[in-house]
Parts: sequence; C-alpha cells; structure tokens
Amino acid sequence: MTVFEAMRRRRMHRQYRPEPPDQETLERLVYAAGRAQVARPGIRHLIVITDPRIVHTLRQACPGFVNDAPMAIAICSDLERSEEESGIRGVEVVSRLDAGASAAFMAIAAPALEIGVCKITSWSEEVVQAILGLPDHVRPEVLMAVGIPVANPSKPLKGFQPSVHADRFGHPWGAP
Ligand SMILES: Cc1cc2nc3c(=O)[nH]c(=O)nc-3n(C[C@H](O)[C@H](O)[C@H](O)COP(=O)(O)O)c2cc1C
Repeated sequence: MTVFEAMRRRRMHRQYRPEPPDQETLERLVYAAGRAQVARPGIRHLIVITDPRIVHTLRQACPGFVNDAPMAIAICSDLERSEEESGIRGVEVVSRLDAGASAAFMAIAAPALEIGVCKITSWSEEVVQAILGLPDHVRPEVLMAVGIPVANPSKPLKGFQPSVHADRFGHPWGAP
C-alpha cells in the first residue's frame, strides 16, 4: 500500500473484534510509533496495554474511550527530559507535538497492517497516570485504541479539511 493510499483509507475506528492483533502486527505498529520524528531523545515512552483488566479500567475512567477495542497503546512524555532540553516550552509544547507525530504514524500504519486505531485524549491525566503506574514526571499524552475493526466507520464528517492560506492569513492558497 502506498503512503497516500494509507492516508486516504485512514479512519478512526470504534468497533472491533474481541481478539487483539497478532504479535508481529503489534511490533510493526510499535515500530511506526517509534519511527515518527522525535522532538528530543528520551522523551517518548510507549505502553502497550493488553491486560483486559487495565483496558476495562481505562474505558471506565476516560470519557473519550468510546470504542470496544481489546487493547491500547499509550504515548507518554518524560517531562523531566522535555524540561532539560527545552524548558517550559518542552513541557507544554514540544512533548505534545512529539506524541502527536507518533500517533499520526500509527494512524497511517494501521490500514497497511489491516488493523484499526482510535485516538483518545479526553481524560484526567492523574487518573490515567495512576492506572498505568506512570511516575509523576511521565505524562500520558495520547491513548491509541488498537484492534481489528469489524465494520467500516461512518462517513467522514464534513469540515475536517484545514483552511489553507497563501503567505499570510486570509489569502486562500491555490486561488488565482
Ligand atoms: C487531537 C485529537 C483528539 C481526539 N480525541 C478523541 C477522543 O478522545 N475520543 C475519540 O473517540 N476520538 C478522538 N479523536 C478522533 C476524532 O474524533 C476523529 O478523528 C474524527 O471524528 C474524524 O474521524 P476520522 O479520523 O475517522 O476521519 C481525536 C482526534 C484528534 C486529532
């Protein structure tokens, strides 16, 4: 599958089969998550969550976990490393961009691996930290639900295209 085909097919899935993807597929997904551009060394941590009790607890605790995926991968940032490298901007901005890049690579890899993912961000950080046993200086940034989708997701919502400007805000790009 070409990368543009994967981009076209990429969707957030919310209905999955009960069994998780096989180990080889998960290893390739983890590879994709780690291969995304890294803001600074040592910031990104990935937690592969397959224990059904932990997945269940996360589903109960996170309002954004509105899917029935059998597992998830948490993308987390080491805030001490972020601060050492980039100060407060590292903590507030750089680490979150790093996690977003990792999530995007997973989303693009998923169609090529014939699996589905769904990004989850609606939660209380402290609660997710406690469930995953994260140290205080490691912040959960994104949970990616992972599984084998059972159904095609609903049609893409309208309004999900960016506004594209030429040179300065307010000049539509591509217009004559
Ligand atoms: C930053 C961000 C946060 C998101 N948070 C959630 C979430 O908490 N729960 C969820 O089900 N989907 C979440 N999504 C997925 C969006 O709802 C989804 O991308 C949107 O419905 C468009 O669907 P599509 O990606 O399949 O085209 C999030 C997406 C992004 C980019």
